[in-house]
Amino acid sequence: MEAVRPDGIRQVGAGKRVCVVGASGKLGRYLVRHALDRGYEVVGVCREQSVGKLADFEGRITVVPGPTDDRAVIARAVEGCDAVLTVLVPWGVHHYASGTAQAVLDHARPGARLVFSCGWHITRDGKDLYSRWFKASVAVVTVLAKLVRMVDIDDQVEACRRIFAGDTRWTVVRGSDLEEGESQGLPVWSRHVGDPVLASNRTRRVDFALFMVEAIGNEDLVREAPAIVGRLTPSALAHAAPGRGA
Ligand SMILES: NC(=O)c1ccc[n+]([C@@H]2O[C@H](COP(=O)([O-])OP(=O)(O)OC[C@H]3O[C@@H](n4cnc5c(N)ncnc54)[C@H](OP(=O)(O)O)[C@@H]3O)[C@@H](O)[C@H]2O)c1
Repeated sequence: MEAVRPDGIRQVGAGKRVCVVGASGKLGRYLVRHALDRGYEVVGVCREQSVGKLADFEGRITVVPGPTDDRAVIARAVEGCDAVLTVLVPWGVHHYASGTAQAVLDHARPGARLVFSCGWHITRDGKDLYSRWFKASVAVVTVLAKLVRMVDIDDQVEACRRIFAGDTRWTVVRGSDLEEGESQGLPVWSRHVGDPVLASNRTRRVDFALFMVEAIGNEDLVREAPAIVGRLTPSALAHAAPGRGA
């Protein structure tokens, strides 16, 4: 029988191994914490210079240091993993996000659950409805960030295009604007930005991670790109329907 911790968290991960790619970032550390809480064995991948940011988890996780777009690093880290949680970030102008996604797609074992993070600007089927302000902001940030060679948002789009095109057991979780704070519970989701349930455009980062970890065991989310919003935000409270996490 499945064990339950004194705080009520079900040990759904007992006997299963999860890899967190990008484990040392803010989202990554929440992912590690939620996965450990659920009894998963955790392997974390992060840049060599960031290993110290995982000190809180010393002795409880295996760390594979290295760039997340390094295919050999990913191959080693995902070996034997039942699920891979990937923080997709488009740093630099050398295809970091698409390289990371491709390495995970190529090296995760067949049948593994693959859960990726990104923002609302990613669209799977072109049916998302964005405000003029949102579209203008993404366009400006895309151009400026590429000009200073810091971030290549188009490469995150390319990473997701490759994920959507594949037949792996993927989920791409599209985050709203993020904030820190105590958990409000599992976010609410919708297939399309523009749905009134998402109007508040705010999710606690800790709950973004919670949604990704819970997605491992949620078959309804396989090959879905849910756009999420905090479950206690006004739009979620006003519009959430059963089956969308509310
Ligand atoms: N921020 C938002 O408001 C927002 C909104 C919607 C969706 N999202 C999505 O949420 C996810 C996490 O976003 P976050 O803002 O919360 O970031 P985060 O968790 O702090 O993660 C940033 C990641 O980028 C890595 N990184 C930083 N500088 C780098 C560099 N120069 N080269 C390579 N890697 C570098 C970090 O690794 P180190 O620890 O090694 O530095 C870390 O793994 C992303 O998928 C993002 O698209 C964010």
